[in-house]
Amino acid sequence: MSDKVVLITGTSTGIGQAVAVAAAEAGCTVVATMRDPGRGDELRKAAGGIDIRAMDVTDPDSVLGGVAGVVADYGRLDAVINNAGVSVLGTAENLPMAEIRRAMEVNYFGVVEMTRAALPHLRATKGRVITVTSVGGVVGQPFNEAYCAAKFAVEGFMESLAPVAATVGVGVSVVEPGAVATAFVANAKVDPVAAVAEAGPYAPALQAYIDRTLGAYTTSQTAEEVAAVVLRALTAEPPVLRWQTSDWAQTFVATKITDLDGARVQALTSDWVR
Ligand SMILES: NC(=O)c1ccc[n+]([C@@H]2O[C@H](COP(=O)([O-])OP(=O)(O)OC[C@H]3O[C@@H](n4cnc5c(N)ncnc54)[C@H](OP(=O)(O)O)[C@@H]3O)[C@@H](O)[C@H]2O)c1
Repeated sequence: MSDKVVLITGTSTGIGQAVAVAAAEAGCTVVATMRDPGRGDELRKAAGGIDIRAMDVTDPDSVLGGVAGVVADYGRLDAVINNAGVSVLGTAENLPMAEIRRAMEVNYFGVVEMTRAALPHLRATKGRVITVTSVGGVVGQPFNEAYCAAKFAVEGFMESLAPVAATVGVGVSVVEPGAVATAFVANAKVDPVAAVAEAGPYAPALQAYIDRTLGAYTTSQTAEEVAAVVLRALTAEPPVLRWQTSDWAQTFVATKITDLDGARVQALTSDWVR
């Protein structure tokens, strides 16, 4: 890995930060991007020699300029790790359209923009596109309509791109965690009491969902455990398209893949909201 130049998005916290540290420890040259490099102190302390740069994945100039800058400075790009993402919590009827669009802008169009910008350089190095999606990119989950739709979109994009990219030597993978102990849910800035109070006819279901979700996060994975799977995806030969990051994630995703009429998933997730 020592000659590999790896660009990672969303590295100020959580999984992105852990991936940046793991890739640096594996000997990669790491370009860790974040919206505000002023928030990079934790990463600087965790691992030396990481090149921290500004990037907002919803800003095309930032993405295109960021990729061009890496190639200009290092002469190559071997992998892009699309990690930046946001949680958008709420059900269709109550979520403003702007929030539904924000879920897509960050979680889907941001990934697409980055991947398109990187592909010419990844062709040159026979590199990798690794995207942190979610089990929510395979199984739709209550009160996550906007988030799961965006993650489904990413999964569809990457699954479709993979065979095409392979013809030019580029490996494409998606990494699907379940609950991970990061600031992800807190960053969604949802006040559960207020959300339930404003949920109208959906209040009992939302309360049940919140109770269940808090329980799920008591057995969550660490960001470092997820980062280890990302590193395996980065180095696997031949590339593997789909990676679940835990036994729980694997069982959950498998339910969907063998659920041809959708009944098994509905039986499973209906229990979350009653
Ligand atoms: N935690 C979980 O339970 C879980 C489960 C499955 C999948 N995931 C996925 O894992 C990935 C990382 O999430 P996490 O758990 O590590 O949560 P996190 O700590 O909230 O990290 C998300 C990162 O994305 C960045 N980001 C948000 N909007 C951005 C934008 N427009 N441009 C660039 N960066 C942006 C955030 O940066 P700022 O500091 O600038 O906001 C932050 O560094 C996400 O794609 C998420 O969907 C998480």
